Amino acid sequence: MKHTAATLLAQKQSGEKITMLTAYDYTTARIEDECGVNAILVGDSLGMVMLGYDTTLPVTMEDMLHHTKAVARGAEHAFVVADMPFLSYQTSVYDAVVNAGRLIKEGGAQAVKLEGGAAVCKQINAIVEASIPVVAHIGMTPQSVNVFGGFKVQGKSYERAVQLIEDAHRVQEAGACAVVLECVPAKLAEQITKELVIPTIGIGAGNACDGQVLVYQDMLGLTTGHTPKFAKKFADAGKLMREGFAVYIDETKSGVFPEQEHCFQIGEDVMERILNERGQQS
Ligand code: KIV
Repeated sequence: MKHTAATLLAQKQSGEKITMLTAYDYTTARIEDECGVNAILVGDSLGMVMLGYDTTLPVTMEDMLHHTKAVARGAEHAFVVADMPFLSYQTSVYDAVVNAGRLIKEGGAQAVKLEGGAAVCKQINAIVEASIPVVAHIGMTPQSVNVFGGFKVQGKSYERAVQLIEDAHRVQEAGACAVVLECVPAKLAEQITKELVIPTIGIGAGNACDGQVLVYQDMLGLTTGHTPKFAKKFADAGKLMREGFAVYIDETKSGVFPEQEHCFQIGEDVMERILNERGQQS
């Protein structure tokens, strides 16, 4: 079964939590898909975790297309959502539809995600009108890092909390099929989740959301430096990789690797003939 916007909505209605993880390549997407994740987000976080930028701002449409194509090839069942990078939709409704269309037609995604509330509702509406499901993203929206002055929790004051509730309703009315709530106080996210018909997918927004999303490098212990408070480490893949790389280096330098089982054989007679021709003894 392929997950869709409709199956995610059905999960909200039946109370079954939605699981979403980021992936940026074929192998990771295939493993997540085999494990049964409901949705895979090709996040523009790839700018930071795959390309080494400090923010998501330098990510281009070409970057997103390149990684979305790889993920789409690995995701047999998961609903693939591709992020719209900075300035691929803010500039105009026309740009938003064209670029969303590219992520579906060329990238192979089933939906796009874009950041912002009331300010991007025209874009959401036009993309949905073009038959492309849209996941909205409100709260701490990383493409606005320079406006927020850092990656900070949003909606703590009464005014900002009311604005977030309003934004959530506006993106739903504009046609979004789900909304990501990032770095929002848990009680506020719970209230938004109760008020909305569409599923809420939280990241740093408590456990009352209809689903959760995490950047896979954070939850597998692959992120170096600061990891956000909400990023629970479910496994230490970083430790496993370091151990594997160190053993490879040791065994290669000492000549233990490769062993017989890793080598290809040639017939004794063929080798004998070559050595004879070259005047060498076997
Ligand atoms: O780009 C991303 O990975 C995201 C998630 C943090 C929701 O937008």
